[in-house]
Amino acid sequence: MMGRLEGRIALVSGALRGIGLAIAQCLDADGARTIVTDLDAPDSEAVANALHPMANASYIRLDATDEESWIAAKAEIERSFGHLDILVNNVGADLTGKVQDLKLEDWRRLMALNVDTVFLGTKTFQPLLAKGGMSTPYGSSIINISSIMGLVGMGEVSAYNASKGAVRLFTKSNALEFADAGVPIRVNSVHPGFVETPLLLKGMQRWSERDGTLTPQQLIEAMAQTTPIKRLAQPTEIGKVVAFLASDDASYMTGSEVVVDGGWTAR
Ligand SMILES: NC(=O)c1ccc[n+]([C@@H]2O[C@H](COP(=O)([O-])OP(=O)(O)OC[C@H]3O[C@@H](n4cnc5c(N)ncnc54)[C@H](O)[C@@H]3O)[C@@H](O)[C@H]2O)c1
Repeated sequence: MMGRLEGRIALVSGALRGIGLAIAQCLDADGARTIVTDLDAPDSEAVANALHPMANASYIRLDATDEESWIAAKAEIERSFGHLDILVNNVGADLTGKVQDLKLEDWRRLMALNVDTVFLGTKTFQPLLAKGGMSTPYGSSIINISSIMGLVGMGEVSAYNASKGAVRLFTKSNALEFADAGVPIRVNSVHPGFVETPLLLKGMQRWSERDGTLTPQQLIEAMAQTTPIKRLAQPTEIGKVVAFLASDDASYMTGSEVVVDGGWTAR
């Protein structure tokens, strides 16, 4: 049976671990020719381990905060394929702390990782995506990974809230800009709740060290209990939604925010 993304070319940023890796695996499973990108060296074990189980994936080293790096990746993809059909802007990091304690350099670093990366990916690949979109019935697709923290605020999460809120509205502006100009690219954001990834585990370790009473595992359990369906998400549960948005099954979706949070923001 033909996969629904057969023949499509996809790029995922920050795809060697966590949600990005699961997204790449889901796109691959649906038949896309998937380009995994991340910071690690092409000959590293992490790259070999990530690519091995996938049917049709390759790797490009891409620092998503660096414009030159995006331009080099674009040149390589243009040479190899001539166009792009799916761009997933997944790179992101967290930062917590009281406003009074946040350092400007840490704030700027977070904005570089969470917001600049989405801007640079979109800007650099718009021409190749527009080209891809012309030969697919319902256009090409950009999916930006925001968060439930891009929808609702939380104390001591102001920097992350601001960065993910920016991703949510940048998505909508682009969706409208492209639709108005007849550029065949759909743009949507995905808002995961708590997902079991290296990012979340590191965050819990830092929190546990600060708090001094609960272990990281107890904190994760507490987090699961605050979620209506009483568990964290597995990265694949986000990947499958991204693959849907990338496909023609989401042909009428642009400018939308897709919440995948086990009911967390339903209250
Ligand atoms: N884990 C969660 O609970 C959760 C919830 C909501 C949203 N998100 C968002 O999902 C996305 C992925 O999160 P995750 O938990 O999988 O993170 P992660 O830290 O587990 O993985 C992120 C990947 O991005 C790579 N990366 C970091 N900086 C990079 C750069 N400059 N260029 C290229 N690659 C870079 C890392 O090497 C890593 O492989 C982020 O945008 C995050 O904010 C995560």
